[in-house]
Amino acid sequence: MSAEPRRVEHQQTDKGYVPVYTTAVVEQPWSSYSKDDHATWATLFRRQREILRGRASREFIANQERFGMSADAIPRYEELNAVLGKATGWQLVGVEGLLPELTFFDHLANRRFPVTWWIRRPDQIDYIAEPDLFHDLFGHVPLLLNPIFADYMQAYGRGGVKAHGISAEALVNLTRLYWYTVEFGLIREADGLRIYGSGIVSSKGESIHCLESPAPNRIGFDLERIMRTRYRIDTYQKTYFVIDSYEQLIEATLPDFTPLYERLATQASIPAGEVLDGDRVFHRGTGEGWSGEGDV
Ligand code: PHE
Ligand code: CO
Repeated sequence: MSAEPRRVEHQQTDKGYVPVYTTAVVEQPWSSYSKDDHATWATLFRRQREILRGRASREFIANQERFGMSADAIPRYEELNAVLGKATGWQLVGVEGLLPELTFFDHLANRRFPVTWWIRRPDQIDYIAEPDLFHDLFGHVPLLLNPIFADYMQAYGRGGVKAHGISAEALVNLTRLYWYTVEFGLIREADGLRIYGSGIVSSKGESIHCLESPAPNRIGFDLERIMRTRYRIDTYQKTYFVIDSYEQLIEATLPDFTPLYERLATQASIPAGEVLDGDRVFHRGTGEGWSGEGDV
């Protein structure tokens, strides 16, 4: 058995009831991972790579390979950092789990990505409510090799520090942007819709659901629309937002959000599953083109 993570308290946030951990940065206790821990990584790695072929963004798969991530063993942060530092100047730091918002923003603003050091137990293979090492490493780290996405993540951290100083509502708006891009984003690539969101790529069920199920909406990226859209943390998403490119993400989010937060404060939020007039709705599956008529 490896050591247990140290939870400090539970906290009611706008993301629901979540455990909050100590804010300390910890060394990855690599040599204390058990055989079971490595086996859990191997099972999840193989399974997701299989499912993600033809479903994940090219960039995502290519970058995992560039890192040399494999099913053989839980990667060492130190080795990933050597590749990452050279490519985009980001560094992974070990943490106990979900961080308080401001601590998290401060890490991102300084190009540090917090990675949970522990991996889920064998009985949690299919579902775990909070981020663990598999979600953080397999899901989030690959795109940090992409210079544009790397800049977007840092800008988000800076924007978070700023929003935190503006209002609780501004923070809710900004968190929705993270949710619908970094965690649950889809991208339109040459041969159809592909996944880049970390919350999707680390989930077997949602990797298929988000592209193939007729149930959810797939709507073209629209910053203001996203910031008004509520989300669920306990079910698959009812709506996914589709970017045309990683450039679109950074270009749309570069302007100062201060006036946007003011405007949003006077507007009602949009339920997670709603489709509005003017939404660019994508067809299911390969996402060939899109229909302005709202037929899914
Ligand atoms: N431009 C945003 C602001 O002024 C910062 C930001 C950039 C937020 C990228 C998210 C993503 O707050
Ligand atoms: Co995440």
